[in-house]
Amino acid sequence: MDPLQAKQQMTLAEFRSLRDFIYVKSGIFFSESKQYFLENRLNKRIGELKLRSYSDYLSLLQGIQGPGELKRLFVEITTNETSFWRNPPQIEAFQNIVLPEAAKQARERGQSRLRIWSAACSSGEEPYTLAMICQELKDTVLRGITVEILGTDISEKVLSQAQDGVYNSYTLRNLTPEQLLRHFIPLGKDLYQVKPEVQRFTSLRHFNLVDYAAYRQLGSFDVIFCRNVLIYFDEVVKAQVLKGFHELLHPRAYLLVGHSESIHAFNTGFELLHFSKAMGYRKRT
Ligand SMILES: C[S@@+](CC[C@H](N)C(=O)[O-])C[C@H]1O[C@@H](n2cnc3c(N)ncnc32)[C@H](O)[C@@H]1O
Repeated sequence: MDPLQAKQQMTLAEFRSLRDFIYVKSGIFFSESKQYFLENRLNKRIGELKLRSYSDYLSLLQGIQGPGELKRLFVEITTNETSFWRNPPQIEAFQNIVLPEAAKQARERGQSRLRIWSAACSSGEEPYTLAMICQELKDTVLRGITVEILGTDISEKVLSQAQDGVYNSYTLRNLTPEQLLRHFIPLGKDLYQVKPEVQRFTSLRHFNLVDYAAYRQLGSFDVIFCRNVLIYFDEVVKAQVLKGFHELLHPRAYLLVGHSESIHAFNTGFELLHFSKAMGYRKRT
């Protein structure tokens, strides 16, 4: 067998160097129990590039081809699992409590614009779920208010899937048949495309959550969703990301994290909110 086709073994030293590089570039932290995971994810790439070792791959990432390969690395190492209407009690709390309250606060500030950020939006299911809700409430709760939903992610691959807005029934499994009919165009072969009137609420862009200096460019927000990504970060990165969110949120604006992601330990500027079977946070005034 061609030696380059054989599965490359990652040494512990290589794992540690790559792990440290990935941590600096993305905030994603791989503990030593994840060596096999990283090896598995990068083995194919090393084969494609015809490299002899993981050390050579790291040298490539640190060289002139680095910036281009880094985009590819982010695609390989991220876990992008998501679905429409994920964590239904929290989405219902957004629909019934958070959004009406955020709209009320925007009106009180004399603003007719409401901005929502889906930070780490993966292939778009989360921002489009929020857009479907906004579309349904546009003539009632949101009357007179323009909503902008920004979806960002570190992986260009999932962003391009989000841009296409085409999904199969598995990721749509939490939607009712009525919601599916209202917001999607069936394309056949088990594929459905988000309708343009839902898509128009949403803009998508690449954003790395550890690019702390760039947060300000995004403007301020009424609601930030950051679900199921903080779990990949260590305490230092979590604290920085939460500080960034805090700065961008209006006073009393909302932060919704994943259901297993307590931010309690870093929670200086947020108050905990208990919804029915879900939790959220609000920026303290
Ligand atoms: C498990 S998905 C969560 C998607 C969605 N928020 C949800 O809860 O269904 C985690 C996403 O975080 C993204 N991600 C990981 N590190 C990131 C970083 N440093 N900046 C931006 N996005 C990141 C990944 O690319 C992935 O799409």
